[in-house]
Amino acid sequence: RQTPVGCPCVGSLPALSSVPSSPEMLRGKRVIVTGASSGIGEQMAYHLARMEAHLLLTARTEAKLQKVVKRCLELGAASARYVSGSMEDTTFPAVVVREAENTWGGLDMLILNHIGYSYVNYFNGDVEHIRKLLETNFLSYVAMTASALPMLKESEGSIVVVSSLAGKTGSPFAASYSATKFALDGFFSSLRHELIIDNVNVSITLCILGYINTAMSHVIRRTPAPKEECALEIIRSGALRQRELHYPPMVGSLLLFQYIAPDLLDSFIRSYYEVENIRRT
Ligand SMILES: NC(=O)c1ccc[n+]([C@@H]2O[C@H](COP(=O)([O-])OP(=O)(O)OC[C@H]3O[C@@H](n4cnc5c(N)ncnc54)[C@H](OP(=O)(O)O)[C@@H]3O)[C@@H](O)[C@H]2O)c1
Ligand SMILES: *[C@@H]1O[C@H](CO)[C@@H](O)[C@H](O)[C@H]1NC(C)=O
Repeated sequence: RQTPVGCPCVGSLPALSSVPSSPEMLRGKRVIVTGASSGIGEQMAYHLARMEAHLLLTARTEAKLQKVVKRCLELGAASARYVSGSMEDTTFPAVVVREAENTWGGLDMLILNHIGYSYVNYFNGDVEHIRKLLETNFLSYVAMTASALPMLKESEGSIVVVSSLAGKTGSPFAASYSATKFALDGFFSSLRHELIIDNVNVSITLCILGYINTAMSHVIRRTPAPKEECALEIIRSGALRQRELHYPPMVGSLLLFQYIAPDLLDSFIRSYYEVENIRRT
């Protein structure tokens, strides 16, 4: 097990993976995973396959999705298929949900995980980039949710939204990304209220992730947490209908400082970055 360096507290916390897992909770469930061609999304697909779920995967790159689907079938998925396309295309979210409806006639879990490319650097004044990123990272999540809600109400299903520490507290060199992730919190936390007021039994789980070993960065001086364990924790938190996941656990400890000592939290976050490695563009 990798633990992020620089936080001696992490090693002494009980490992989340020691909590008994409940693969049977997902057996035969119909699950959509976005951004499933690589990274954490790909790992979620493999875990769900081992749990014998029905899978509909999506991302842009068809060749990668074909390989992931093949592996999912080998691992024991009840069924696995994909639909490829870009979430920058405003019509695509509904296409994916319609595919689930046509194939299964219902849906149990919607895992929203994809992100578009964003640069790691000082904000460069490019407003158009943020407009596009909001479409991919935020509006497509809203559109998929809108299309999928009738089926999720029917099945008393779950929505799982993958966000970031940068979606709870600002991070340098990721202003655009951070903005799109904060938007997710605003929208989905409000929607959760409305579902409860309306007696609609659809859970919403917001996943606040720290640094994970998918997109290794030369500007972050920490050891990333493993994507395989991260993927399993996301699925488990969704299946258990938890409000939020904090992974790795240190993320939860950091957020405790947000209202008590925000400047201290900010300087701690800045200390993560090798500012010398940022070349202003
Ligand atoms: N890695 C971390 O340190 C970290 C930290 C905090 C939060 N997270 C969150 O974890 C989630 C997964 O991140 P990851 O690290 O696994 O990222 P990743 O490896 O870069 O995977 C991103 C996925 O999104 C897909 N994608 C990219 N552009 C797309 C588009 N325009 N339309 C549809 N799909 C698109 C990619 O596939 P194609 O290129 O084939 O489309 C890929 O499957 C994200 O929500 C991210 O914000 C990650
Ligand atoms: C909500 O749905 C879940 C999953 O079907 C079920 O376990 C739970 O008992 C339901 N809660 C209520 C209040 O109906």
